[in-house]
Order: sequence, then structure tokens, then C-alpha cells
Amino acid sequence: MTNDIIGTLESLVPELTQALGQASSLDEVEALRVRFLGRKGLLAELMSGMAALSPEERPAVGKAANTVKTAMTVVWEERVQALQSVMQDQALEFFDPSAPSWRPDRGSLHPVTRVMREVCSVFTGLGFEVVSGPEVENDFTNFEALNLPPEHPARDMQDTLYISDSILLRTHTSPLQVRTMLARKPPLGVIAPGKVYRRDSDITHTPMFHQIEGLLVDTHVTMADLRGILTAFVQTVFGHDTKVRFRPSFFPFTEPSAEVDISCVICGGSGKTAPDTACRVCKETGWVEILGCGMVDPAVFAKVGYDPDIYTGFAFGLGVERIAMLKYGIGDLRMFFENDLRFLGQFA
Ligand code: PHE
Repeated sequence: MTNDIIGTLESLVPELTQALGQASSLDEVEALRVRFLGRKGLLAELMSGMAALSPEERPAVGKAANTVKTAMTVVWEERVQALQSVMQDQALEFFDPSAPSWRPDRGSLHPVTRVMREVCSVFTGLGFEVVSGPEVENDFTNFEALNLPPEHPARDMQDTLYISDSILLRTHTSPLQVRTMLARKPPLGVIAPGKVYRRDSDITHTPMFHQIEGLLVDTHVTMADLRGILTAFVQTVFGHDTKVRFRPSFFPFTEPSAEVDISCVICGGSGKTAPDTACRVCKETGWVEILGCGMVDPAVFAKVGYDPDIYTGFAFGLGVERIAMLKYGIGDLRMFFENDLRFLGQFA
């Protein structure tokens, strides 16, 4: 009886060894552990039969059971290790350390932000200070103090986005002229980048766009200073061969006023992109407009309490999208606002 049980017990070891030899996955090996060594496995089943043995018979069977258990555990663990090392070798066979690795997409600055920063850095390099103000403005700061009287067409509902009769979305960055002069005394030189809003929307206009305002006030500021500063700015941003042209114009808050053109950056000022192809950017004129400017109108000084007999100054305002389009050769204004990563990624 005892010998039968011990014989059956001992036969488990070669049985398991053989089954393990045929198992080819960790799952199968695990199933064998459950079948032979588990709580309801073959070994456990034989042990439960021990209750029927006499006290004298038990020690020998118990000892055999322990030996068998140890032996089975050892062959099982050996098989697990062997399988794991085979699997590792296989994985390494497919692992190519020279393959290009996964790279996260890197964000980049929006071209409008880039140009805004570049323009500001040119002017801070010339001693100007960056200031900012609210996008929701009042009528006084956006129009009245800038010598735009109530009947001025720029105040028309067609052009301005009104919040109420006297509160509106600023239509330009020029209110920063007023805010700066009300808050400080000359001499001062500031640059004010920001968003502006107009009721306009077509291929070349968006209801929101960006401007940068410049203002310099001191005694003895002249139009020659304005020309010198703007020429330095244009040639820093567009290259030293770029020509600058001042064209007489009108703004209620500057007198005299001018619009500044630069030689077309696309065709180099020739008006043609090929011997018989007209340049579409400058419409064959060789010049493109980039900003409005002028000498601060004495009427504006009066509004902010500066003595026009002592102080003179210049102001200018430029469109950031326009500069970016010329600088990067972008043909369509809407590209800036579509958030197409194929476009934006080119500025990384
Ligand atoms: N504010 C004007 C515009 O939006 C530009 C400008 C600014 C002109 C400063 C002269 C001086 O068109």
C-alpha cells in the first residue's frame, strides 16, 4: 500500500518533466503548474489520501511527497527560465537599435508671434519700451483723444465692433499713444503690440488682426528721426538692400502723415517675378505698403495735456500679418488663422 502510493508520487516527476518539455508557452507552463502543484492538483490529491494511512505509514509517504514536491518545483522553474530566455532572444532578434526612434511633435511659435517678437526686439534695441493696454476700449481713447471727431467715418458701425455706445473693441493700437501720454511725461519712446478688431472679413481682411504701435515724444523730434528709425527697422527685418519710400497720406492724429512703402520683397522691386510674369504681391509697381505714420498732431498733445510748443513726436502703426506675409512669402491671410499644423510646423 505504502509503496504503491510512493511509486505513484514519484512517477509525477518524470510525467511533469515530459509535459514541460512539450510546453512552448508560459501559459502552457503555468497550466502544468496548476495541474501538478496547484491546490487541487495531482500532488494535493494524492496527499489527501494520506488520511487513510496508519500513523506508522505516514512519515515515509510524507517524506516522499516533500521530495517529489521539491523536485517538481525545480524542474518547473528551470523550464520557465529556459522559456523566458528563448523569448528574450527572439525579441532581441527583432530589436533594431539603429532604427529611428519615436519623437514627440515639438510645438513652435506662431508666425504672427515670431514677427511680433522680432519687430519689438528691433525697437527695444533702439531704446523703445514695450507697453500694452486693453482690447476693450472706450470711445475717448480709441477715437476722441486721437482727433477722430464723432462724425468721423472710422467710427461707423460698418467698421467698428461696439460693445455699447461708448465701449468698443479697439480698432487700432493707437489708443496706446493716448494711454502712454496720459500716464507719463516726455521724453518717452514706446512700442505697443497687440490685437485689434474691425468689422471686416474677406480674403484680405479678418475681424481680428495684429498691429504694433510706435510712439516717440521729446523736444526736437523731427520727421528725419521718424525716417531714420523706420529705415533702420525695415532694413533689419527685410534686409539691408530694401528701399524705403514715404508717401504723403492722412491720419487725423498725425500731421504731416505718411504711408511707408518698401521695395517689393518678392520681385526685388522690379515688378516682375520672371521676364514676362507680373509680380502679384506689388501688382507690378515694385513697392508694397507696410505701415502708416506721421508727426503727432498738436490736437492730440492738447488732449493729453502736453504743451505742443515744447514737445514734438512721431507715431507709426504697422500690421503684423502684413509684415509676416511679406517676410515669409505667404500668399493668403487666412493661413494665419486656420491652425493647420502643416503650415504652422514650417516655422519651427
Ligand atoms: N492707427 C493707424 C491705422 O490703424 C496707423 C497709424 C498709427 C498711423 C500711428 C499713423 C500713426 O491705420
